[in-house]
Amino acid sequence: VIRREGERIFDYEDPQGFEPLRRSIAQVLCSQGLGATANRILVTSGSQQAISLVARLLLREGDTVLVEEPSYGAALRLFRAEGLRIVGVPVDRDGMRVEEMEPLLQRHRPGLLYCTPNFQNPTGTCLSAPRRLRLVELAVRYNLPVLEDDYVGDLRYDGRALPCLKALDRSGAVIYVSTFSKMLMPGLRIGFILADGPVLALLTDRKRTTDLSSASLPQRVLCAYLSVGRYRRHLRRCRALYRGRRDAMAAGIRRWFPAGTSFAVPAGGLFLWARLPGGLRCRDIARGAAEAGVAFRPGRESFVGEAGGDRWMRLNFAANDVPVIEEGMRRLGLCVRAARRAAA
Ligand SMILES: Cc1ncc(COP(=O)(O)O)c(C=O)c1O
Repeated sequence: VIRREGERIFDYEDPQGFEPLRRSIAQVLCSQGLGATANRILVTSGSQQAISLVARLLLREGDTVLVEEPSYGAALRLFRAEGLRIVGVPVDRDGMRVEEMEPLLQRHRPGLLYCTPNFQNPTGTCLSAPRRLRLVELAVRYNLPVLEDDYVGDLRYDGRALPCLKALDRSGAVIYVSTFSKMLMPGLRIGFILADGPVLALLTDRKRTTDLSSASLPQRVLCAYLSVGRYRRHLRRCRALYRGRRDAMAAGIRRWFPAGTSFAVPAGGLFLWARLPGGLRCRDIARGAAEAGVAFRPGRESFVGEAGGDRWMRLNFAANDVPVIEEGMRRLGLCVRAARRAAA
């Protein structure tokens, strides 16, 4: 890219993002059924910056944000740092329990709902189609902006894709955020927002005041790589690879973990969410796991309150190959068994 484009690339970039990259992103989104054009896209430094820009634009200290509970830990940390009140909506195997939202909307008058309808972090669940429709209906009725974080929606291993909230929304209530971190590589630090009208203009303005623009070189490199066909081929390879890793992890848990450990096999994404048996908590196995060289995320980081969260662990199956996962599950399973014996 440097050879082809010369010193131009060492300059500041368009605050909204390199225009040809925005065009390519729009094409990818269109190929997935999400109507998008380059002028409705804002390139951000990962989706974490996108979440931050939206929260800061729409909310003030003391305002309420509604989240799935459990939810993505770094988003919760961000909301706490902004001084927001965080109210959780429970998640079951069909994603967020949308039917429990209405009383919360009436009671707390939230200024934003943050949610990940596809392969939710940390539970791996997908919001069911009826709940998606109901959620968008409620957003319109209560004039509630929705921040849809589709961080890993392209990594589906079973079943068929469900429409994004943004595709169901005619009102502009949904602000759609995604990233190339999980589908490609996090070090690029390229995410984006798809939004409408004045919201997009205000977000672009915020982006300019925050960091002037995202770095030019990674945007141009990604743009040179990204075409609908090439991206599809890449996703096909990732899906085959990660599906095998997911299955290896599920088999490893069944084989090595004690009875009473529960988990569901996710249809996509990166994580397996497992509940420790008996009264065991992540704290009880943290030391043993570290000594065994196995890392996992304790569930408590994903909850708004502490209650019970530490009985869950989030295991990433995408990051290692099958033999490493098999050995990791063996070691972790033995460590859970040892903690169980010690607690008995
Ligand atoms: C649900 C979710 N959203 C957003 C992000 C942020 O990713 P990035 O800033 O790299 O795009 C992550 C990263 O783990 C995530 O899990």
